[in-house]
Amino acid sequence: MDDLISLDQALDGSRKEVREWYNHINPPLASFLSLFDFDRRYLIGQGVSVWDKEGTEYYDFLGGYGSLNLGHNHPKVAEALSKVSAEPKILQATLSPLAAALAKNLSTVAPGKLDVCFFCNSGAEAVEAALKTARAATKRRAFVSTEGSFHGKTMGALSVSGRRKYRDPFEPLLADCLRIPYGDAAALDQALSAGDVAAFIVEPIQGEGGVIIPPDGYLRDAEKLCRKYGALLIVDEVQTGMGRTGKLFAFEHEEIEPDIITLAKSLGGGCMPIGCMMSTRDVWNSVYGTVNNCLLHTSTFMNNTMACAAGIASLEVILEENLIEAARAKGDYFLEKLKELEAKHPMIKEVRGRGLMIGLEFYQPAKGWFDKLSAGLVNKLSSEYFADMMSVELLGSCRVITAYTLNNPNVIRLQPPLIVGYEQLDYVADAIDRVCEKYKSFWGMTLKTGKSVIGSLFKK
Ligand SMILES: Cc1ncc(COP(=O)(O)O)c(C=O)c1O
Repeated sequence: MDDLISLDQALDGSRKEVREWYNHINPPLASFLSLFDFDRRYLIGQGVSVWDKEGTEYYDFLGGYGSLNLGHNHPKVAEALSKVSAEPKILQATLSPLAAALAKNLSTVAPGKLDVCFFCNSGAEAVEAALKTARAATKRRAFVSTEGSFHGKTMGALSVSGRRKYRDPFEPLLADCLRIPYGDAAALDQALSAGDVAAFIVEPIQGEGGVIIPPDGYLRDAEKLCRKYGALLIVDEVQTGMGRTGKLFAFEHEEIEPDIITLAKSLGGGCMPIGCMMSTRDVWNSVYGTVNNCLLHTSTFMNNTMACAAGIASLEVILEENLIEAARAKGDYFLEKLKELEAKHPMIKEVRGRGLMIGLEFYQPAKGWFDKLSAGLVNKLSSEYFADMMSVELLGSCRVITAYTLNNPNVIRLQPPLIVGYEQLDYVADAIDRVCEKYKSFWGMTLKTGKSVIGSLFKK
């Protein structure tokens, strides 16, 4: 078939061709990314770096939205994938030794009573499994979640997610979903006291909400309240898990015992899509614990060979290379450098994070600033995308890849692979400093003078 694009032609596609082919995926996304020169073709990925067609090196501090704790193409993950190259990849009419081993390993490293795994293909699917399991286990209907949360974009996951923009076009979603302010234990008490709540689902640190860390003790309070009212506690570790925050799972910072956790992203070692819902044996047994019920929730691709091989290797690398401790030490170091920038540049509202999960929040610029900066090119875009403009500059002039958080476009996420070097952290802190310095004059021009003006122009 002459009119079909071969794999070799696809690999060799020019930027123009790829943009055209994107007509069959998402034309506005392609226009948006190419407008900002984000549609570069990267040919090699290794560790923290990727290289484009021209051989230019970039540091990837976006880190696959949290999927690249091990960096690009970690050799041990690549080796694991090549070890299984001749194995059947999908064969459901038997037991999978790799899925079984990965589940056993996760139950060995997970604290508390977390013991049984359901594997799937994404974070949202892991959340779907968690919600369904909680309903069936408790025989209750309602879910409580938090404002600003992000749990994925399938129907159930979206129903408990925080941002209206993503929910509204798809209403009606699941009934009986209540969202309460994040970090507010009193609000949780009130919500749970209404009764009939199957589960409270919560991120230990909100990722897409803009890297929001709850007050100390919040998760412990949540655990106590869930026990008091008979609701299950689901901790969504899709983004925070696998060492990112300086613990294997972020809920370990508060030593709680969730009934269910969800994992995905870095569980696949940066190479394969895999999600996981992990629950206590009691919860699992109450729903799936008979031959009649054991297939109540399944997926064609669950337990597939490649994803599970990558999962086994990923966990091994995280533990063997002490990446959990590395995330803590490097995170502390980087955060301190970025805090210096917060003190230096008035356009930075706040720098916050734990381990190598860091957010850099900018004040929203005044109207007109954005058009000036982009010479009117992007005047149809909301000025809320200032952080995106910073990402554009970081990519264009400093070769650093970043992006804003989905539920809070004023925040740039900095989630480099946990194997990042100190000199790379220094380089990126310097790059952010330079970009802020460069934009200072535009910023000052719009604001006229003084911090008092900042206070009146921006919602603090
Ligand atoms: C905390 C959390 N849960 C769930 C998801 C959804 O994962 P996925 O995009 O793999 O469906 C995400 C994605 O960013 C997430 O951050």
